[in-house]
Amino acid sequence: MPSAITAGRVREALEAATEALAAAGVETPRLDAELLLAEATGRDRAPLAAEPEAGVVPDAGRRFSEMVRRRIRREPVAYILGRKGFRRIELAVDRRALVPRPETELLVEIALELEPRTALDIGTGSGAVALALADELPTCRVTATDTSKQALTLARENAERLGINGRVRLEPGTVPEGRSFDLVLANLPYVRDDEWEGLAPEITRYEPREALVAGAEGIEVIATVAPAAVAALAPAGSLAFEVGAGQAGAVAELMLDLGFRQVEGRQDLAGVPRVVLGRMGSG
Ligand SMILES: C[S@@+](CC[C@H](N)C(=O)[O-])C[C@H]1O[C@@H](n2cnc3c(N)ncnc32)[C@H](O)[C@@H]1O
Repeated sequence: MPSAITAGRVREALEAATEALAAAGVETPRLDAELLLAEATGRDRAPLAAEPEAGVVPDAGRRFSEMVRRRIRREPVAYILGRKGFRRIELAVDRRALVPRPETELLVEIALELEPRTALDIGTGSGAVALALADELPTCRVTATDTSKQALTLARENAERLGINGRVRLEPGTVPEGRSFDLVLANLPYVRDDEWEGLAPEITRYEPREALVAGAEGIEVIATVAPAAVAALAPAGSLAFEVGAGQAGAVAELMLDLGFRQVEGRQDLAGVPRVVLGRMGSG
């Protein structure tokens, strides 16, 4: 670890860390170095980066050095910081659940368009979709499920910390029995078995494999959960699945087979069809 990381000025600390992170294969070394130095010094990133001659006190330097060490081993920045922004909320994140991805915000956008009175988020992980929805659509009664006890505990901690605990029901399992929902949303595992080894070390070394990998085709979990999700829809209800690149067509067919009258794909910011939305009503 270069000594410039543990003592000296902002400029040297950032330059040394950027170089070390780039050598480790990190995709955005400068940005990550700035985020970690901001965390270590307790300052905001932009003003910190704008003051390259400011000093870094030894305690902050040591904290920074330890964080850079973790990042060199390719631990995701969100796990090192222990938090991730999603829509308007900030979630605590750790290895109990997947780091919420920006493209998943599309599920929340769809929910805001449809304004359901009741919604179910299947496979809630850290609670991202359910808690963002409860935050942005307070009239909606939100239920969230996960088969992972650890993920559900994290989601519960997030709900409590955000003060929206009373407005979101968190339940173990997949689809609660005997209840119906205007909208069911799900970002379930959709990575193919053979894709796993080729994913970034940030994912394969740190994120829970069972949160991501679905089977040989990638749509197995979606296909298994879909019939129960449809059975839990209120009349004229809607169902939205996040899907992997190239899976939208197969998932759309599956939904047409399950009786949806309208099925459409929605693209993420990179232009990838990312969500398949089926509506039982005429819309
Ligand atoms: C890709 S992660 C998504 C987490 C969260 N929704 C997000 O977007 O950040 C998938 C989640 O689905 C959960 N899961 C997998 N199979 C499930 C099932 N059959 N029923 C409920 N949850 C499931 C996993 O435990 C994991 O937390």
